[in-house]
Amino acid sequence: MTFYLGIDIGTSGTKTLLIDESGNVIAESNAEYPLHQPKPGWTEQDPEDWWKATVKTVRSVMKAAGIPPESVGAIGLSGQMHGSVFLDQQNRVIRHALLWNDQRTVAECDEITAAAGGRKRLIKMVANPALTGFQAPKILWLRNQEPRNYAKLAKVLLPKDEIRRRLTGDFVTEVSDASGTLLLDVVKRKWSKKLMDRLELDLNLLPSVVESEDVTGTLTTQAANQLGLTTNCKVVGGAGDCAAGAIGTGVVKSGILSTSIGTSGVMFVHSDEPQYDEEGRLHTFCHAVRGKWHMMGVNLTSGGSLQWWVDSVLRGLKGVSEKNRYAEATAEAQAISAGSNGLLFLPYLNGERTPHADAKARGNFIGLNLVHTRGHMTRAVMEGVTFALKDSLDIIHSLNVPVKQIRASGGGSKNPLWRQMQADVFNKKITTLAVEQGPAYGVALLAAVGDGRYRSIEQACKETIEVAEQTAPDRAASKTYQELFPVYQQLYGQLKTSMHRLATLQANE
Ligand code: XUL
Repeated sequence: MTFYLGIDIGTSGTKTLLIDESGNVIAESNAEYPLHQPKPGWTEQDPEDWWKATVKTVRSVMKAAGIPPESVGAIGLSGQMHGSVFLDQQNRVIRHALLWNDQRTVAECDEITAAAGGRKRLIKMVANPALTGFQAPKILWLRNQEPRNYAKLAKVLLPKDEIRRRLTGDFVTEVSDASGTLLLDVVKRKWSKKLMDRLELDLNLLPSVVESEDVTGTLTTQAANQLGLTTNCKVVGGAGDCAAGAIGTGVVKSGILSTSIGTSGVMFVHSDEPQYDEEGRLHTFCHAVRGKWHMMGVNLTSGGSLQWWVDSVLRGLKGVSEKNRYAEATAEAQAISAGSNGLLFLPYLNGERTPHADAKARGNFIGLNLVHTRGHMTRAVMEGVTFALKDSLDIIHSLNVPVKQIRASGGGSKNPLWRQMQADVFNKKITTLAVEQGPAYGVALLAAVGDGRYRSIEQACKETIEVAEQTAPDRAASKTYQELFPVYQQLYGQLKTSMHRLATLQANE
């Protein structure tokens, strides 16, 4: 029997899964690490923390499974997208990595758009507009703001690809994650020399690019010893966490949309051809399926909003125990009826990407009244996050992308209240899977494909992913949400100037 490992370098922690040849989950392990926020809107992590979590979780699943090291055939890597690991000539990390939800690069996004000859030309080169979280503006930020660090720069890697470097010694990425750098010609699936030249960046800064199921190397002796595996163990390209999560939910053909609530919120559709949103609200990226693409809308603070609300506001209050604080908070929200009795929440706690692409957007509770309780506020947070996902769904519909089935994953599928809320807000049935393990599962399947266990990732999904149940919309709740959604949608425009002013005051503090 051969086994496969899927490792997902997430924002709150790393999750490692071990599956057998038939896709059954044998063991899993999680390890958390801190997120550093040195200034409002800045998010950073220490790549060394990701590596320690990788070693710890791999050792832990191997111990739990009790299988011989040589039976692990391949590893698939997934991770938070867009982050920048800056390395010097000696492969030393120069500074903490800037993350996908970091908002410091507004000026650099303008610089890139101008260098490309305008937004339209940029979208033509790399299929997407310049957005603050993407990797390219981070490289320019280092050049503009930390020239001493920039002078040392030899390579820039994405988070999961830094882990690959430590596993195999190779500088390699794959098409799905590379799409989120803003430096990939997404249509041709190779680096855009044209944009690199315009930005006066050396192509040698970037790793080589492969398809997601391709084998990129085998473990070095040192890595094999550290993980308790062998040097025969292969590492495949893997995928950015959105494409990996989509594979883990079986979104490998047209007609299925996945909604995922993690720290971010993602609405993801497969596409056989590269398709664009001309306004650049949705991202067009390569899929982790060979020769295919996908579109997605991304909300920056989805599960992150509930996490903020429960951990920074409710934690420690009466009726909110340390151990069960999420279950207790959402039980209070469950007792409130749909619409939170006229209370709305805008989940722009760290700016927003889809549909507003606005680093200075801010969170809001609107409509507070003396009748409102803590339960109303918790429910409003969850509803606001779900409305933000609906913004993406509506854009997807407006582009005539077929959506026959919606599959939920992440916190939004595990939490029954959020699952029902999605069905009600989208006014569509929500499908959940028998076993939902997210991005780590998707890349464990890619590892099995790369090792030759399956003919293709489509076949792997067909054989392993099983739909379990459907949640139908509640008519009355759907009606309430249909009335509220236009109010929610108008608020961003009505509050934009004030949000920007407040964000500026905050930055100047
Ligand atoms: C996708 C994105 C986020 C991160 C979170 O574009 O920025 O979903 O990948 O892990």
